Amino acid sequence: MIEIRDDFFHIQTENTSYVFSRTASGLLLHNYYGPKVNYLNFEGIKQKLEGGAGTSIVYEGEANMHMDLLDLEYSTVGIGDFREAAITLHHPRFGHSASFKYLDHEVFESDSSALPSSYGEAEVLRLRLKDEVAGLELELYYKVFPETDVISRYAKLVNKSEETHTIQRFFSAQIDFPETDYVMMTFMGAWAKERWLVEKELKPGIYVNDSKTGGSSNKANPLVILRKPSTDEDAGGCYGFNLVYSGNHKSTVEVTFQHKLRFLTGINDHAFNYLLPPGAEFVTPEAVLTYSNEGLNKLSQNFHAFVDNHIVRGKFRNRIRPVLLNSWEGNYFNFNEKRLLRLARKAKEVGIELFVLDDGWFGKRDDDTSSLGDWDVNLKKLPHGLKGFAERINKLGLEFGLWVEPEMINEDSDLYRKHPDWAVKVPGRKPGLGRNQLVLDLTNKEVREYLINKLKEVFSSCNVKYVKWDYNRNITDMYGKTLENQGEFFHRYIMGFYEIMEELTKSFPDILFEGCASGGNRFDLGMLCYFPQIWTSDDTDYLERIYIQTGTSYGYPPSAITNHVSAIPNHQTLRVTPLSSRFNLACFGNLGYELNLLDLSKEELQEIKTQIRFYKARRELFQFGTFYRSKRSIYNDNCAYFYMVSKDCDEACLGFFQALLRPSPKEDIVHIRGLKEGIYVFRNRLEKHNIKKFGGLINYVSPIRIKVNGKIHNLISRIYKIKGEKEVYMVNAEMLEHSGIRLFSQFAGTGFGSKVRVLGDFGSRIYLIDRAEDSKA
Ligand code: GLA
Repeated sequence: MIEIRDDFFHIQTENTSYVFSRTASGLLLHNYYGPKVNYLNFEGIKQKLEGGAGTSIVYEGEANMHMDLLDLEYSTVGIGDFREAAITLHHPRFGHSASFKYLDHEVFESDSSALPSSYGEAEVLRLRLKDEVAGLELELYYKVFPETDVISRYAKLVNKSEETHTIQRFFSAQIDFPETDYVMMTFMGAWAKERWLVEKELKPGIYVNDSKTGGSSNKANPLVILRKPSTDEDAGGCYGFNLVYSGNHKSTVEVTFQHKLRFLTGINDHAFNYLLPPGAEFVTPEAVLTYSNEGLNKLSQNFHAFVDNHIVRGKFRNRIRPVLLNSWEGNYFNFNEKRLLRLARKAKEVGIELFVLDDGWFGKRDDDTSSLGDWDVNLKKLPHGLKGFAERINKLGLEFGLWVEPEMINEDSDLYRKHPDWAVKVPGRKPGLGRNQLVLDLTNKEVREYLINKLKEVFSSCNVKYVKWDYNRNITDMYGKTLENQGEFFHRYIMGFYEIMEELTKSFPDILFEGCASGGNRFDLGMLCYFPQIWTSDDTDYLERIYIQTGTSYGYPPSAITNHVSAIPNHQTLRVTPLSSRFNLACFGNLGYELNLLDLSKEELQEIKTQIRFYKARRELFQFGTFYRSKRSIYNDNCAYFYMVSKDCDEACLGFFQALLRPSPKEDIVHIRGLKEGIYVFRNRLEKHNIKKFGGLINYVSPIRIKVNGKIHNLISRIYKIKGEKEVYMVNAEMLEHSGIRLFSQFAGTGFGSKVRVLGDFGSRIYLIDRAEDSKA
């Protein structure tokens, strides 16, 4: 709801209020953002600055308008606010200073933007401001999504003058906070280590969370959270910010010595210099704001619902996703049709639904030094072409999916030999290489048209139902042959990418597109507008994934996250972890497998079959349920658990994940919130133990002496499995939430028995919570 009273603009969502106002001289002041309030009047939330402030500058000499102290709605340069500005312009005559004053406002039912943005029923408030001297109009937009407690903001600059202006910085949103005691949460990382939670207690200074790589990056995700120091997963106030943008982004948090906190977010001003000729306009990407007064879980749930309902679009929105097998780690570049079909047959046997042919199917691509750009099938590997191969896959009862990396080109490719100037590089300079490849210049229309046509040809050449779109290097040597102003390269690149995706997703509405960028190097809301799911990380190691999935969950829903069960020793860490744990963790999102099933034992294949059957029976819950993290997190403990509650709040699934077993472990107590009143059965998904797990301890119980790893030991391990614990409780929702369930104690050197959990290093469990009447045996 948007209420406009006197000079105040009051935006309300179900649980939040956002208030700003205009002064007599046309300046916009920020008044409040937080829990929902119904105002009698706004006097109480007007900032009082009668006391003055030393060296501060007073806006146009107006009483008490101390610019350095004022909470502003959108700040500019050169008018006395010495903090970071939301917009920086330049014109040789006017210099950098700009002063925008309120012109008018309007409320719309909906809006449209050239950029990918949120959609759905949303009231939109637009304010127009004008810098009369420079002849520029600034429009501020506020979009309201009441049920998810999201307000999104973006801005537009329109050049109404006769001269060209330069935009040096143009952020999407600014929030000035009157208090500074916040902890800044960012999600940082590197390849195979994406979106690790990093927390900073704020002190005076400027904190930057940004990407300069050309993509939203694995270094610093655009998601930023500010929480009160005492806020935890289940209680307390916190603000979340994200950006619907896949290019260079920047958020700054500035804390001044005058006890002010400013948050800014938008396109990174790094290597950004945009020319705005007369009559032209520039629109920023959409910043997504949410507030929760009930801790971080509620904040994440707001983001999750927003992504599922207002970002992801098309056929796969809120629609269950297939269980897939990806050919990469099981084969890398070394495969042929026969081998893949054998793998696919096994995949079908264990319950896989979609077979994904990863890298290596085109050109002469037998390693990563060649062929990117040559999207023609390699008939040596696939003699029946993509069409024939897909038909054979379909015949087995599987859908067919394909990997592509269209934004890239190898120097060793026919495309490069024909069009060397299509690659991004500065004329006369030798460009940097990443994974032996260069980036195609998507700022060039000719390149975009070529890609669209070529990909349309590939996608229509066979029955493809899924496409994994990869992007395996960052952008350097930024130069676009057809650009007049190279300062626009990064933004125009990403706009070019969106143009291609717009066209392809429209032309192939039945293809499920999965985003990928060396794993999760471009995991953002812009991507999610075209790719309903994203490959979370190339790192599939159980332990690393607990960190990655936890970090990712702060801003992105399980439906957006894809997880694969892979082989051991793990290809990224060489770590050996149980198959059950790899699966238990991969369940929380979209499940896939990425290993050579043909190398597995009968028992392992049987286990996988059981896993997939289990997952399919609860897939809706794992992909679209409400996600909760526990306070016990891998970032602060040796164990972590998280859980999902069904949309109608009468079913849940909890994953308990251990890193290393420590002697004298603490008691494991799990709490589950969010279930409606009623009686539930709480029980563990049953596990079996291989006798070998216990090594020489077998002789503690065996009547005869057994040689460890000897013939008898091996034989027993093959034919006999020890039943794990069975833990069942009848409970109600209150018990689950408040007293929690005190789980069986863990085996840690003593006391093995049927009422002991053997988790060991990297052990895990899934617990099922069903309504008593629905509980399956
Ligand atoms: C990237 C992806 C992997 C795989 C390879 C193929 O690394 O993240 O999943 O597709 O490329 O080259």
